[in-house]
Amino acid sequence: MKIAILGSGGREHAIAFSVSKSKKIKKIYCIPGNAGTKELAENINIEINDFKKIHDFIIDKKIDIVVVGPEDPLVNGIVDYLEKFKIQVFGPNKIASRLEGSKIFTKNICKNYNIPTSRFEIFENREDSKKFLKNAEHPLVIKADNLAAGKGVYICKNIRESNLAVEEIFGGKFGVAKNILFEEFLEGEEMSFFIISDGATIKKFGTAQDHKRVGEGDTGKNTGGMGAYSPSRLINDNLEKKIFNKIIHPTLKGLSDLGAKYKGFLYVGLMIVNNEPYLIEYNVRMGDPECQTILPTLNSDIVDIFIACVNENLDEVQIEWSNKKSVCVVLCSEGYPETYKKNIEIKNLEKIKLDKNNFLFHAGTKNNDNKIFATGGRVLNFISLSNDFNICRKNIHNNLDNLNWKKGFYRKDIGYKVID
Ligand code: AMP
Ligand code: GLY
Repeated sequence: MKIAILGSGGREHAIAFSVSKSKKIKKIYCIPGNAGTKELAENINIEINDFKKIHDFIIDKKIDIVVVGPEDPLVNGIVDYLEKFKIQVFGPNKIASRLEGSKIFTKNICKNYNIPTSRFEIFENREDSKKFLKNAEHPLVIKADNLAAGKGVYICKNIRESNLAVEEIFGGKFGVAKNILFEEFLEGEEMSFFIISDGATIKKFGTAQDHKRVGEGDTGKNTGGMGAYSPSRLINDNLEKKIFNKIIHPTLKGLSDLGAKYKGFLYVGLMIVNNEPYLIEYNVRMGDPECQTILPTLNSDIVDIFIACVNENLDEVQIEWSNKKSVCVVLCSEGYPETYKKNIEIKNLEKIKLDKNNFLFHAGTKNNDNKIFATGGRVLNFISLSNDFNICRKNIHNNLDNLNWKKGFYRKDIGYKVID
């Protein structure tokens, strides 16, 4: 079989790596991929929102199945587009992807199906927003409705900060804003919970906790994710039941009442308050870097799982996991998440020790004349598995020392909640 994986991050390198272990796959294409995927796959330089070109390439190469990594093409309807041509695609369709594409869509499902989430208000303009703010309690969470690449969320301590957020959102900082969302601030601990679905059967696909802030001790600006560990320290059978019964099942019922099935990975972003789950957000894809921590612990053939999802027989597949613990630390370019330099060479990659428990997944890298250059803010993902989170992190730090990339930085405290 031939497979195409869309995307160019650490998540997609991790997916390509898992796929490369399957005996069923003869050829992997990554569109567009990165310097890491180039070692396992053929990278194809097509823009991921150019559906026509992607379609033509898939037909030309007779690709059997397409896996979509990031949210952008999903929210833009790539699954509907390719399915019209009878191409098999793993990922949710356009309606189902609104779970990530519109926070207000999701909040309305929560309201109509009694799903635990923070209280919220929606406004369409500055005037109504500011009137509401006069009597609002702080801290207050303010969100732009549209996809904003992890940005567009403000946690405001006072009315001055809230007014500024309203100005920035309606001022178009995250694209044209038709709506703004105000949310009650939930105090608890965040957890990422993953499922996979073929539209009928749902299976758990791991848990993780990530570190979104750039600074040690979870301080500073929000990022795409500086590191993660899996499984989450919060998960237990009772909590898992509540997540399925109070959040996931009613959401899928909501989609089904709109005539949509959910096929693909679903990332359930939760705030856990006293062992009670509250939905913060959905993402219609795997998390990044959560995916990089979770996939190396998968013992089953991921291609069997993708095929079962597109054929709607996931109930016939057993998903087996290793019970090892997993940590991922992200090496970033100096300056991230603000401005950072591009095209800086990374040497010493051959000094990194990789084996069946230690992995390196590239993110923002490219290969030029057999040299590796950093092109993105998040550059490399170091992963280690073991029975002890502390050992995982030590192995990773040893590899980061081996690499000794002077233009980068990483958080040394990833997983501090599970490491003494
Ligand atoms: P989102 O893009 O909706 O996931 O928000 C980004 C981050 O903001 C989340 O990962 C949380 O850390 C934080 N956040 C979002 N909504 C809330 C909330 N209602 N209460 C507390 N923190 C929140
Ligand atoms: N790690 C957060 C995300 O993938 O959105």
